[in-house]
Amino acid sequence: MTKKKNLFIAFEGIDGSGKSTQAKLLSEHLIREGHQVYFTFEPTDSPIGSIIRNIFTHKMEADHRTIAGLFVADRLDHLLNKTNGILKKLEDGYTVITDRYYFSSYAYHGAHLSMDWVIEANALSAGLLRPDLNIFIEITPEISMQRITSGRGSLELFETLENLIKVREMYYEAFAKLKLQEKVFITDGNRTPELIAADIRNKISQLSLATHISTHQSD
Ligand code: ADP
Ligand code: TYD
Repeated sequence: MTKKKNLFIAFEGIDGSGKSTQAKLLSEHLIREGHQVYFTFEPTDSPIGSIIRNIFTHKMEADHRTIAGLFVADRLDHLLNKTNGILKKLEDGYTVITDRYYFSSYAYHGAHLSMDWVIEANALSAGLLRPDLNIFIEITPEISMQRITSGRGSLELFETLENLIKVREMYYEAFAKLKLQEKVFITDGNRTPELIAADIRNKISQLSLATHISTHQSD
């Protein structure tokens, strides 16, 4: 018998890389194909996410260790919340697409703290749910800064060229460190949104097929 397995896809990249644009395009495509799609994001819109956003918009101050800890809590609630948590949505038959997940923590907090500590601090989340695919949209930090500054007036906590250069390096360090545990697809974000979206659709259709076949064979 064929079991239906809903995909959990995480979009990753430095600020302004086009994650929201691509997550939306992929969601629309999957809906057109007849899937039920739940789109979500981190930091979330929960009370913990609000504290984080206050820190990013300079309304509150916090140490890097505190920020990393807040993301650990925000992510666990994102997964485990009984009404709209990711695990519940997957169980209810949704394909779940998230704009950022734990690789964001590894990269953004790994730029300031020990990455191994950050990975360990997120071990509960990784144990609960690993993405079927992490999609990393690759752009240079210079383009990222251009997009961020042309899009709005003020900059958030981590949005400096120096920090984004470091964060990008940390993403690649995390991908190398976790290459045996994680599926990562890197796509060139310096192209038009349509070309990037086509690349992602292609990868997802290969993945859906592979998941279907392997679930089918193990039955
Ligand atoms: P993120 O969610 O990674 O911050 P967004 O999708 O919000 O990124 O995009 C950031 C800005 O860059 C937006 O103004 C968006 O319209 C623009 N943008 C997104 N994708 C592209 C692209 N492929 N080429 C040029 N600009 C883009
Ligand atoms: P987001 O709203 O996705 O910003 P953008 O659309 O500009 O990429 O994320 C806000 C900030 O949160 C972003 O600078 C990255 C940071 N962040 C962390 O520092 N750690 C995390 O675990 C996550 C999920 C995000």
